[in-house]
Amino acid sequence: MIAFIREIMKNQVVDILNKSELNKEDIVFLLNADPEGTQYLFNKAHETKLKYVGKYIYFRGLIELSNVCSKNCYYCGIRRDNKKVERYSVTDEEVIAAATYALNRNWGSIVIQSGERQDKEFINRIENLLKKITSISEGKLGITLSLGEQKPEVYKRWHNAGATRYLLRIETSDKNLFYKMHPEDTLHDFEKRIQAIYELRNTGYMAGTGVMIGLPYQTTENLANDLLFMKNIDIDMCGMGPYLEHEDTPLWKDKDVLLPVQKRYELSLKMIAILRIIMKDINIASSTALQAIDPHGREEGIKVGANVIMPNITPVKYHSNYNLYKGKPEIAPETDNYIRELEKQIETAGGIIGYGFKGDPLHFNNRKE
Ligand code: 5AD
Ligand code: SF4
Repeated sequence: MIAFIREIMKNQVVDILNKSELNKEDIVFLLNADPEGTQYLFNKAHETKLKYVGKYIYFRGLIELSNVCSKNCYYCGIRRDNKKVERYSVTDEEVIAAATYALNRNWGSIVIQSGERQDKEFINRIENLLKKITSISEGKLGITLSLGEQKPEVYKRWHNAGATRYLLRIETSDKNLFYKMHPEDTLHDFEKRIQAIYELRNTGYMAGTGVMIGLPYQTTENLANDLLFMKNIDIDMCGMGPYLEHEDTPLWKDKDVLLPVQKRYELSLKMIAILRIIMKDINIASSTALQAIDPHGREEGIKVGANVIMPNITPVKYHSNYNLYKGKPEIAPETDNYIRELEKQIETAGGIIGYGFKGDPLHFNNRKE
């Protein structure tokens, strides 16, 4: 009897994977697939990746610029009201040194991420850093920003100074759930956040978004809608990963209603795989949060459809203060030895590191054509 049910499930997964367009019910079914069905899903995602974006995996050196944040997201360890955090800002010299490290290793790109700040000093500082990095790399280093919501003129200034990609996670596309995760005020406004993604696109950025997976009260329907949301707004890039609770945040109170960590991990891999199938030529990052659950989590993400890895190149002394969530890998694993190991694993998984390429999302260029 059980074998019979398994067979039906497998056939249904295969039927769904053969469709040219997936609807919400199809996606929910895939998110709930058993291990055998999941293997079909992962294989299909891997094939899709090879066919549409190829074997290349791009390294982006991640610089966690500062943990100073004006926002108060209920889930995040560096939220404004967490007084236990020692706040830091990486110096300009250290940012330039990190960018040079990525450049010398031929990684092609860096990502500058930080808590959200809208003050003049911050905006000017970023603009100057962008100009410097563009100049020392002679424009060869792609620069992605992940600096939260800003005014359209700020997006424009940073774009003019050399940034070409921008990541702004919607966190969840469900408005009700969004307000369970954020205070309901002008700083945390669901519609404004969606609007910001459009503004980024209009400014000329390759625009990315993403969600957290396994949030308290999040259903598989919510997750299916998240994927369809990304498809509808036609993003170029995505970074998404499991939600990991942090004890110094308000959302810690819901820790007992969470899915087990392993389930959140599996769901995250399924989300990556389905996104690859429904948005074939975008860039998908294998998130650090996957690695926080499983030391090889990011490589697993690569096997099921992701094509970007963001090794952390923030100076090690700051790492313990950028704790967005519990279990964030604290010691920099991104030493030369570790990178060689990562390279080997990616090659075993059938990938090649895209050294020397910026690795812009093909989707961006394909849309223009
Ligand atoms: N668990 C997982 N991801 C988190 N982020 C923030 N807090 C957490 C958490 N507790 C993610 C958010 C944010 C990104 C910088 O880090 O998605 O956009
Ligand atoms: Fe700030 Fe981002 Fe954390 Fe929200 S998720 S508190 S905006 S760093």
